[in-house]
Amino acid sequence: QTGMFTYDPGFTSTASCRSAITYIDGEAGVLLYRGYPIEQLAEKCSFLEVCYLLLEAELPNADELKTFEKEVTTHTMVHDQLTNFFKGFRRDAHPMAIMVGVVGALSAFYHDSLDIHSPKDRHISAIRLIAKVPTIVAMCYKYSVGSPFMYPQNKLKYVDNFLRMMHATPCAEYEPNPVLVRALDRILILHADHEQNASTSTVRLAGSSGANPFACITAGIACLWGSAHGGANEAALNMLKEIGDVSQIPIYIAKAKDKNDSFRLMGFGHRVYKNYDPRAKLMRETCHEVLTELGLHDDPLFKLALELERIALEDEYFVSKKLYPNVDFYSGIVLHALGIPSNMFTAIFAMGRTVGWISHWDEMISDPEQKIGRPRQLYTGAVRRDVPDRW
Ligand code: SDX
Repeated sequence: QTGMFTYDPGFTSTASCRSAITYIDGEAGVLLYRGYPIEQLAEKCSFLEVCYLLLEAELPNADELKTFEKEVTTHTMVHDQLTNFFKGFRRDAHPMAIMVGVVGALSAFYHDSLDIHSPKDRHISAIRLIAKVPTIVAMCYKYSVGSPFMYPQNKLKYVDNFLRMMHATPCAEYEPNPVLVRALDRILILHADHEQNASTSTVRLAGSSGANPFACITAGIACLWGSAHGGANEAALNMLKEIGDVSQIPIYIAKAKDKNDSFRLMGFGHRVYKNYDPRAKLMRETCHEVLTELGLHDDPLFKLALELERIALEDEYFVSKKLYPNVDFYSGIVLHALGIPSNMFTAIFAMGRTVGWISHWDEMISDPEQKIGRPRQLYTGAVRRDVPDRW
């Protein structure tokens, strides 16, 4: 009992693993990172403080945070050879396709010098991934618009550095709005980890074979891309644009309920939450803050999303199936307001989730009893004795 809710450690019978990193109570709509409620972390911490918490299991003191921030900052640059990988992609390649290729290529630069059983090597791998993924994400964007890559600046904080690499050019500097910086920092916190979701489980399964962390994170990126998972934020914004007007909402609610129609409300429903995703509430608040700061409080997409949520949560189908907005429902509107194109939304999700992936990888590799993952199956095929003469 924590005074907040009845603590249930999880599904002892069907659990795929034991973990002390993140706790979700889907019925109560509770999310804890290393025991702290997501609402407290989103309000009181920076993303890098949360990265430290997920990796080290405790929040950093002032000196620990300063050291951690310096470590990350001094690893934000990528090997110059890595820029050559971009040249093989068409300019209109989806950023997630490039991310799979380029983050995977990091293996080639660090694999040989990395002992996954050395805590020091595991720590520097985590630092390199947390530091370099934003640089690669910004490079994906620059490559897609034909603009030169911008180098990270060690004098800048993590999110300021990323937004500058996204929006500055050799001809014009970029001064991010502090409200937008804080909003993106909070969005990264909300995406940092989420227990054994599909992409984190992919990272753990890949890591269980002893594959290097850069290759494992790449497997997680590939899995996150799907529209049922991290691709839902881009799909949710596209869905809102397709609905277009509140008058069209009933048509799309009907489509979502029609079993013969493959359409689903993007950003709604969840495998675990059968209550409101606590991240969706925080994302809606962030949305309102950013749009108000930008003088866009009448943003039609935000108003449409609020009305769609209101109607769906009064509809028997959604109520009976406990379908609520999830983290992806409002995130696209915020990212759109931050000037990030929709095909980059999942890459931003990956930027936040990298620390969760690498924390789970580290937790698994640190376990002396860890074995290679080997899910079993229920065989439903035939059993035959003789191969027939076929000609
Ligand atoms: C993320 O695992 C994680 O933690 C993921 C994530 C993370 O941080 O890593 O939280 C991030 O991936 C969030 C989810 C983003 N995806 C979407 O928003 C896509 C739209 N959502 C759906 O595709 C769906 O809700 C899933 C994939 C998320 C869950 O699908 P399930 O497992 O089928 O959901 P369910 O079992 O709870 O569904 C119950 C019923 C089903 O109908 P019946 O078979 O009972 O008749 O509700 C229906 C579903 O068909 N349903 C929906 C719906 N989501 C579920 N119907 C209409 N619209 C929807 N969005």
